[in-house]
Amino acid sequence: MDFASLVESRRSTRGYEKKPVSKELMVEIIDLAKRAPSSMNTQPWNFHVITGPPLELIREGNTERMLAGAAVDREIKMADHGYQDEHRQRQIEIAVQLFEAMGIERDDTARRQDWVMRGFRQFDAPVSVVVTLDRALADDTIGHFDCGAATYGLVLAATSKGLGCVINGQGIMQSSVVREHGNIPEDEVIMTCVAMGWPDAEFVANDVVSRRVPNDDVASYVGFEA
Ligand SMILES: Cc1cc2nc3c(=O)[nH]c(=O)nc-3n(C[C@H](O)[C@H](O)[C@H](O)COP(=O)(O)O)c2cc1C
Repeated sequence: MDFASLVESRRSTRGYEKKPVSKELMVEIIDLAKRAPSSMNTQPWNFHVITGPPLELIREGNTERMLAGAAVDREIKMADHGYQDEHRQRQIEIAVQLFEAMGIERDDTARRQDWVMRGFRQFDAPVSVVVTLDRALADDTIGHFDCGAATYGLVLAATSKGLGCVINGQGIMQSSVVREHGNIPEDEVIMTCVAMGWPDAEFVANDVVSRRVPNDDVASYVGFEA
């Protein structure tokens, strides 16, 4: 697949076949992901590839805590005010697209809740890759940038192998659960996780294509001839 087709065919996958992913394939994917550039070649990222019983324990722990109304327990920071203005509008837009695809009505609180809980279960994917940052760089936003680059590399590598993925902030909202069952060392900060597996072709939300703002809203071109 050429690069443009790879990028354009990728979309967040939220429904998976109940079929394992081999360790050999995950090794190939990590080999590609870690080719990401990083500041001064520091490579401050780590990938914890989790499947089987430990992943089930993470799903159970996340579900239990979220249903009990536990406070968010995340190691990376989000602005206190959440998303506002155009960011909030885009957040709503993708939620509407997904709910429409799934036939979930606005007032169907049970199905909406079920959808949210699927996120905490990492969409029942067979693999979760927890991406961490070396704690020495916890407050260094360049290290956060490096982890973002590596995470997109991971997603594109997995997509190139036929896997589906979704970067899944919900999966680390109870990071102490992930830390315990994922065996994450104390000298690393949990940044995100990526749910991964073979896409379920029947799961309609997997076909949703998220929109992007026009180029003129995000790019400026300086010094070109008109
Ligand atoms: C840092 C980050 C966290 C995300 N967390 C979630 C999540 O918790 N649940 C979810 O369904 N999608 C999550 N996503 C996926 C985004 O919703 C998705 O990338 C966006 O809507 C664009 O859709 P696309 O990936 O299909 O192009 C996350 C993406 C990123 C980059």
